Amino acid sequence: MRSEEKLFIQALRGQKTSRPPIWLMRQAGRYLPEYKEVRRDAGSFLDLCFNPELACEVTLQPIRRYGFDAAILFSDILVIPHALGQKLWFAEGEGPKLDALTGEADLDRLSVDKLHEALGPVYQTVGRLKESLPSETALIGFAGAPWTVASYMIEGGGTKDFMKLKKWAFGQPELFQRLIDLLVDATADYLIKQLDAGAEALQIFDSWAGVIPAGDLKRWSLDPILRIVDKVKTVHPSVPIIVFPRGVGLGYLSFAESEQLDCLSLDQSLPLSWARDNLQRKKTVQGNLDPVSLLVGGEHLESSVAAILSNLKDGPFVFNLGHGIIQYTNPDHVSRLIELVRRD
Ligand code: CP3
Repeated sequence: MRSEEKLFIQALRGQKTSRPPIWLMRQAGRYLPEYKEVRRDAGSFLDLCFNPELACEVTLQPIRRYGFDAAILFSDILVIPHALGQKLWFAEGEGPKLDALTGEADLDRLSVDKLHEALGPVYQTVGRLKESLPSETALIGFAGAPWTVASYMIEGGGTKDFMKLKKWAFGQPELFQRLIDLLVDATADYLIKQLDAGAEALQIFDSWAGVIPAGDLKRWSLDPILRIVDKVKTVHPSVPIIVFPRGVGLGYLSFAESEQLDCLSLDQSLPLSWARDNLQRKKTVQGNLDPVSLLVGGEHLESSVAAILSNLKDGPFVFNLGHGIIQYTNPDHVSRLIELVRRD
């Protein structure tokens, strides 16, 4: 029965809830001293992602500390390239590094044959979480969208200009489409397994969708995401799915018009009244506090939160940031944020 559903799930189903549910992107992470402790003992970041006991523990840390309405599985979007056979490592302080794909031969070497074997520990983490989470806390599974995952695969890590990625997409679209198709299939299978193991909602992160020219947004962001969603919903028809096409501006409209999506995660660049009138009318929205506002705290945080609530709380809404929490954020600012959102 709907009325007995968790608050977060009610909001994703388009209901206006008694108060806005809240969770934060990257809520498990280096701003928490207890995370840093586990991280230090785990070995590498990937070792942590593939250790079900420790990954479960760091997922639970922010739930224990703050009582968020949803927990997000602790893993990373780059476990997919890793599971397809691409070399991946996390250089301390430098972010992810991959053996960059340079052409067709590298693409031919990727394979889905060992996908679930490699990702088995992630499914085990989901299973453990299912048993350990408080009954009111929803569990979110996630994956990166094909465009964003492809960006790391082709650039070999983070980038400022996305030149190699765009050279593939614009210059060799058929070859690039092959990579996207592979990622659509692998990602859909991965998400289905997360749901089989107990995830209750999904978020698909297209963190770099904002660098796609508007005319290509459908081909390289929206369509691949919708293909994943269709595959997932064939097996799990009622799972609510959040999409985060960060930075696409007016492009959010085309996502809002896609019926199979349940919720749009908004970045902080979107004007609140525009989001309310044009997006929230069609779907649940999630967001969109600037992570720097949370870092800064004080009066600025109070007024920013008030502006978001006054614009968005009368429709279906989940409070979140416009992007992941910054590692230098004072954990007390997060407590204050929760007070502000819950007192309303
Ligand atoms: O708490 C959560 O949100 C769940 C875990 C999670 C992580 N990464 C853990 C992580 C999630 C949902 C992600 C998603 C992710 N990973 C995205 C999409 C969201 C976004 O931020 O745009 C992207 C682009 C990645 C790729 C990635 N992983 C980068 C660019 C980095 C380095 C940047 C950084 O913050 O250091 C990572 C590493 C990473 N993923 C860390 C964490 C907690 C920090 C590594 C560490 O602890 O040493």
